[in-house]
Amino acid sequence: MKIIMLGAPGAGKGTQAKMIAEKYQIPHISTGDIFRANIKNGTQLGMEAKKYMDQGLLVPDELTVKILLDRVAQEDCKNGYVLDGFPRTIPQAEVLDKALAGLGEAIDYAINVDVPDENIVRRMSGRRACLSCGATYHVEHIPPRQEGVCDHCGQALVLRDDDKPETVQNRLKVYHEQTQPLIDFYTAKGVLRTVDGTVDMKDVFEAIVSILK
Ligand code: AP5
Ligand code: MG
Ligand code: ZN
Repeated sequence: MKIIMLGAPGAGKGTQAKMIAEKYQIPHISTGDIFRANIKNGTQLGMEAKKYMDQGLLVPDELTVKILLDRVAQEDCKNGYVLDGFPRTIPQAEVLDKALAGLGEAIDYAINVDVPDENIVRRMSGRRACLSCGATYHVEHIPPRQEGVCDHCGQALVLRDDDKPETVQNRLKVYHEQTQPLIDFYTAKGVLRTVDGTVDMKDVFEAIVSILK
């Protein structure tokens, strides 16, 4: 099963993708997590990506596409995967589409997690992230067992550099301009499904599971 998560920054793509990956035993692939891991490790790619991410801009397609195609070609992706944060532009979607078509494959579901802009900024300021394993928490809605510490790997939780309110506004603008057109793209392919992302995360997940059945 090949799934794409669509939705604004902070809609809950990562939160839901992790649960999908666990239930269906497929890898969760987040281009944002890959970039953040590279920034943390001080790689060339990380330094390049950070220039864009800190401003809430997209990392250029040339950098992003290659990383993603290499990742989905790995052995653990044989039975499918859930993509979180990719594709984010029409050109990225077209490259992915072509690569899959070359293998006689296609995306099965594009899940659009729908959350209005008003809810987003509030969510982001409360988010805490683990840069080691990619787990995400929220100080009110989804707190870790011990404040500031990741439940899964014990590393310190941080506020992401791009979660400052002014950067979030910019990310929303970029989302509407460059990523939202993918909703039409996947609707035309007949694989788009929309879920209400404003309800409790467990209810969002239930809605997704009933779609994937
Ligand atoms: P990326 O890491 O993908 O960030 P994003 O799309 O902005 O999305 P987020 O990770 O911020 O939000 P999310 O939808 O995963 O929400 P989450 O589950 O954490 O990308 C970061 C940057 O990298 C981009 O800006 C760009 O520069 C670059 N990049 C990445 N991919 C790229 C690509 N393909 N091309 C070019 N550039 C790329 O949830 C948010 C918060 O809400 C959390 O605190 C969570 O606990 C809470 N929450 C979740 N669900 C609920 C709920 N139902 N109720 C209440 N709270 C909830
Ligand atoms: Mg995310
Ligand atoms: Zn962790």
